[in-house]
Parts: sequence; C-alpha cells; structure tokens
Amino acid sequence: MPKVVFITHAGARHQVDAAAGESLMRAAVDNGVPGIDADCGGMCACATCHVFVEPDWVARLAAPSQQEEEMLNFTAERRETSRLACQIQIVDALDGLTVLMPEGQH
Ligand code: FES
Repeated sequence: MPKVVFITHAGARHQVDAAAGESLMRAAVDNGVPGIDADCGGMCACATCHVFVEPDWVARLAAPSQQEEEMLNFTAERRETSRLACQIQIVDALDGLTVLMPEGQH
C-alpha cells in the first residue's frame, strides 16, 4: 500500500497508508491528518483540501481538470505546486508522495 506524507504548515509530519484508487484527501481524513477539512466531501467544490505538492512529485501527477483549476483560483495561497487533494487519485507509483499544507489550514 503506498505511503503518503502530509506536512503541516507548523512542520508536523504525518505519514499514512493510502489505498490505490482512493483520493489523497480520503487518505488524510481517514487517518485524522489535521488541516484537510474536505467540507464538500471530495466534490471539488470547497478547496479546503488544498495542498502544495513537493516539486519532485508535481510532474508525476495527472494534470488538474479545469474545475480543479477554477477552485484553486479561489484559494488565498495558490502556488504553482497547488493541488486539491480530493482530485489526486492514489496509485502505487505515488508511494512516497509528499505534500505540505497552506498556512490557513490547520
Ligand atoms: S474536498 Fe472539497 S474541494 Fe476537495
């Protein structure tokens, strides 16, 4: 099972198991990782699952949809590495994926 790592803005590191086929958001919520509220339940409609993907991993992810791009534009801290965790599907090749939380999510 792939392991993914969430690092809070304060620097706390949370490594969790993520089942292939589930979303990165679900892996965070199911493991009690703070900072991923996922208010819309993964419908790409709230942006409370905003993360910054470690630069080495950005190109290994499927490109964001137009809907995800539009939601990211509503986030206060958007960066080039910004993604919505609910839109990232876990596959075995993402073992070791590391993301950071924006300052506003804790
Ligand atoms: S959970 Fe709402 S946009 Fe990701």
